[in-house]
Amino acid sequence: MRKEENCSLKEHNTFGIEAKARQFVEYDSVEELQAFIRERAARGDTSPLLHIGGGSNLLFLGDFKGTILHSRMHDIHVTADEGDNIYVRVSAGIVWDDWVQYAIDSLWYGLENLSLIPGEVGASAVQNIGAYGAEAKDFIVYVDTVDLQTGDVRHFTAEECCYGYRDSIFKHELRGRYAVTHVHFHLSHGFRPRIEYGGIRQALAERGFDETNLTAEQLRQTIIEIRRAKLPEPSELGNAGSFFTNPIVPRHTFERLSNEYSNIPHYEADSKRVKIPAGWMIEQCGWKGKTLGKAGVYEKQALVLVNRGGATGADIAALCKQIQADVKSKFGIAIVPEVNFIS
Ligand code: EPU
Repeated sequence: MRKEENCSLKEHNTFGIEAKARQFVEYDSVEELQAFIRERAARGDTSPLLHIGGGSNLLFLGDFKGTILHSRMHDIHVTADEGDNIYVRVSAGIVWDDWVQYAIDSLWYGLENLSLIPGEVGASAVQNIGAYGAEAKDFIVYVDTVDLQTGDVRHFTAEECCYGYRDSIFKHELRGRYAVTHVHFHLSHGFRPRIEYGGIRQALAERGFDETNLTAEQLRQTIIEIRRAKLPEPSELGNAGSFFTNPIVPRHTFERLSNEYSNIPHYEADSKRVKIPAGWMIEQCGWKGKTLGKAGVYEKQALVLVNRGGATGADIAALCKQIQADVKSKFGIAIVPEVNFIS
């Protein structure tokens, strides 16, 4: 276990915000985490606790007056191998994209479209990360956790995680209560590429890949290139990927808007609701490529807010508020941050 007092969080959030934590604790086993929680409880310490992954979905509004926990466990373990199905238990502290690469190298398939999503495996199970027609929940069977109040281990089935679009029980009723220590994935030995999602087919053709004879590595490389063309690299420009979720609105709201904006992009959510890309609405409001103080809207994808250098959490939050107000006034739709604000 590694403990650091008064620790800089700059390297622990992809926005690159300068903030400090009173204490930063990295643990190397479930037992170490349990011992830490139980010892704290025995001392009656009720100061704030925050478990983080890669910090790719966090906005620190100031210094954190408590303890930040982070996993240093890095094991990948096959738990069952039956016919086409392979079940793998993966430590929460592994970088998500390292896991995707490891799976493809091991000839375990399914995760290709989720290549290059920033963050760690634990956060994938909290956030239900998704891209190019795939979501983490499609592959998660169980999530192992430790209760941050008692130190007890608890296993959640995927059903108990209540997954939805960028959503799970860990973001609502159980927010902050459990630390994810391992995620159990169900992958396949057979490669079944999903290339229907807008843009993939064309990108494969542009690269000269034959879609009837595609390899998982070719699909992964194509997804990586599509992402790199649209999304900024956090090491070059601080950002947290999509800053807002795409709102899911009643069909009558969509119909009202499509009378006015015939080209409005949208996806069917269910029979009664339609998902509208927040990035499109933000662009329509004139925000794409604009800057407010030290915070800005990325020029190639308006859903991404960026740190133009030296921004504070408050700078990013001020930009967020202004964009929300403009989208509300132009479209009558409330957009909600996907990023977690930490005060
Ligand atoms: N659009 C614009 N202007 C913009 C951005 C988007 O008009 O500045 C339009 C696009 O032309 C397209 C539609 O909005 O018609 C959707 O855009 P895109 O395919 O880029 O995806 P998105 O809805 O903006 C979502 C995810 C991304 C994921 C992509 C691709 C959310 C919150 N975001 O973005 O996830 O990579 O789809 O699957 O659902 C992330 O979570 O950090 C992330 C990057």
